[in-house]
Amino acid sequence: MILSIESSCDDSAIAITEIETNKLLFHKKISQEIEHSVYGGVVPELAARLHAEALPKILEQVEEYFPMIKAVAVTSTPGLAVTLVEGVTMAKAVAVALDIPLIGVNHLIGHIYSLFIEKETIFPLTVLLVSGGHTQVMEVKSLTEIETIAKSMDDSFGESFDKVAKMMGLGYPGGPAIQNLAKNGDRLKHNFTVPLHQSPLIAFSYSGLKNAVRLAVLEEEKKDEPNFVDIAASFEHIAAKHLTMKLKKYFKTVKPNTFAIVGGASANLYLRSQIEELLKPHNAQLILSELKYCSDNAAMIGRVGVEMYKREMFSSLEELDVAPRSQL
Ligand code: KG4
Ligand code: ZN
Repeated sequence: MILSIESSCDDSAIAITEIETNKLLFHKKISQEIEHSVYGGVVPELAARLHAEALPKILEQVEEYFPMIKAVAVTSTPGLAVTLVEGVTMAKAVAVALDIPLIGVNHLIGHIYSLFIEKETIFPLTVLLVSGGHTQVMEVKSLTEIETIAKSMDDSFGESFDKVAKMMGLGYPGGPAIQNLAKNGDRLKHNFTVPLHQSPLIAFSYSGLKNAVRLAVLEEEKKDEPNFVDIAASFEHIAAKHLTMKLKKYFKTVKPNTFAIVGGASANLYLRSQIEELLKPHNAQLILSELKYCSDNAAMIGRVGVEMYKREMFSSLEELDVAPRSQL
């Protein structure tokens, strides 16, 4: 079995995955959304302190598996340095105590493998990763052959939802709150400009859209009874349209057979429906992770851990360090 640990942002999670079958034998996650909600975003030092409390509590629950654990896999990059350290320190302690190898997992590869929890892998695959930290298109041929095609130049898709929700006083995380508000709104009411629509670049940007929404929110706040429903709907529409327009451009040269959306924001139903429409003429298959594995979790880290264990991709205690920025 593989013991896996995730603490790259605001979720403390531990999983146990059986190597032979990919079966998930245990998974527990303690989220910190409520604690960060009052600040409208994740406060790194608070997050680190909460991980230090939560991770040992979860670890106690898996003690019965210790004799069967063959390696410990932990998210080591990318993420918040102070929170990654919590998981990596625990993983090193477990590796020493049980005298087993240590596996450093890239969180982004973890999100890709959230598609394959308790399943076999499907490759090649074009993946859109939309999370709080990343907006990225990747061509994935195997565990070790991953090419990034496009990235965000500034804010990420999920982060823009968090910031817009904060402007509207909806708390953190903003994605589900905006999705909920937007569903009854007029998506065409506010004609926000689609980011980079005139640029030939296949890249993403959310800072301009965020500022346009800020101005609309300020305007609305002048009214006696401000109502943000149409702003939320128009924002969600343009945020998704930006992704579909750039993907459409990309598909002119590269036709995907299998396309996946992963990451916390892949739970967004409007985005899912727009991507489904986009893929129809290409006859491409859309695959998604189960809703419970879209956001950060340790099951996806364990699934990568199984693959890395089979390839003996181990790190020594001295080698394994946290890297806040991803190499992908
Ligand atoms: O993958 P994740 O749990 O953490 C990171 O690796 O960043 O993603 C969290 C992000 C947050 O920004 C959250 O607002 C966003 O995913 N999110 C959504 C939705 N659910 C979560 N964004 C848009 N629509 C949603 N339904
Ligand atoms: Zn994530």
